[in-house]
Amino acid sequence: MERIEVTAPKQGLKGEVAVPGDKSISHRSVIFSSIAEGRSLVSNFLPGEDNFRTVGAFRKMGVRIEEKGEGVLAIDGLGLNGLKEPDDVIDCGNSGTTIRLLSGLLAAQSFFSVLTGDQYLRKRPMKRVIKPLSTMGARIWGRVQGELPPLAIWGSPLQATRYDSPIASAQVKSAVLLAGLYAEGETSVFEPHPSRDHTERMLSSFGAEVRPRQGGVTIVGRPTLKGREILVPGDISSAAFFMVAGLVVPGSELLIRNVGINPTRNGILEVLRSMGGSLETLNERDAAGEPVADILATSSRLRGVEIGGSMIPRLIDEIPVLSVAAACAEGTTVIRDAAELRVKETDRIAAVAAELRKLGGLVEEFEDGMAVTGVEQLGGGRVDSHGDHRIAMSMAVAALTARAPVEINDIGCTKTSFPNFWGLLGGVSK
Ligand code: S3P
Repeated sequence: MERIEVTAPKQGLKGEVAVPGDKSISHRSVIFSSIAEGRSLVSNFLPGEDNFRTVGAFRKMGVRIEEKGEGVLAIDGLGLNGLKEPDDVIDCGNSGTTIRLLSGLLAAQSFFSVLTGDQYLRKRPMKRVIKPLSTMGARIWGRVQGELPPLAIWGSPLQATRYDSPIASAQVKSAVLLAGLYAEGETSVFEPHPSRDHTERMLSSFGAEVRPRQGGVTIVGRPTLKGREILVPGDISSAAFFMVAGLVVPGSELLIRNVGINPTRNGILEVLRSMGGSLETLNERDAAGEPVADILATSSRLRGVEIGGSMIPRLIDEIPVLSVAAACAEGTTVIRDAAELRVKETDRIAAVAAELRKLGGLVEEFEDGMAVTGVEQLGGGRVDSHGDHRIAMSMAVAALTARAPVEINDIGCTKTSFPNFWGLLGGVSK
């Protein structure tokens, strides 16, 4: 297994980084372009393994997707009803977004398909999408009474629905909206708190009728989607590693370019600022219907905060690296209402607690979160990624502040979302 030793830099982190394209938006760019009419051109597409799983799935269903250069895809859409039956199982690898969004889309096709994934994905809950899709008429089977992949899907005609989701999940919302594209009439999804809204933004830019509602969203089925150009903004979830590193490594001044700051995703900026972090947003602009900015992170003394409720979906993927910030802050940071972390690529509450403790971190685990108390300085040691890209990268940030070298085991997983992470990190830490 691939491993790396990370040592704290002699000076602060200096310079600039441009993080890769947003993972969620990259997935959606392929999905919507494939069922639109005509050609779409996607640039700054994230060349991560997860996103290439989505590309592979649509190629198997007859869509021509050409790589025109680094991060540029030309996609010749087949229209809403042009996909072909894949002649083999679709392997979604580690990608929860691929399997859950495709479940909604494939439930509505006139063919049979099977979705599977790697050892981690095959342990992740799928009933959350199968349940609402079944009420629309979907026929989907999975292991353990439909909870776990592989999933077998007999495409069927679907009816529009109104779904009140018990959890704030963009993957659930998007699966239902994708199915709703094929149903006559209006399909609505309501959530306890708003989840990321990239599906709504992108569907509307492809020509679908999307209506925001109090606590939810409605789409009108059977639209004609038109191919277009999409410039994918940089991923705030990837930028978060550099934001925290810039704040906790003394003497740092790090400019992170081209970061998506969609309000349903930018909770990490708000929380790190409330901890006392100096994060300046510069050059705010718009990229393909998404707000984008450059972010200047300067070393800061951080203090603990309490977060929960509607903040959680706005920074759900950043909680592992936020815990590293908390371990370097004065006082205790309390994270609640985040039970969803237990069903991510790994159980991220257990993984963060176990790995931070190996470096001398003080973590108390709750069923729905954790309390992290700051220490003078983390120590060195050996940690494990649990096969989870965000745990591996969070541990690298922890290592940058540690008293002694940290060896991180099983780092190959960072290729799922951030293939050039180690190169970029090496470039700014000397
Ligand atoms: C994603 C939604 C989030 C997030 C995941 C990507 C998406 O999951 O954690 O990394 O692209 O829709 P949930 O929707 O399950 O909360």
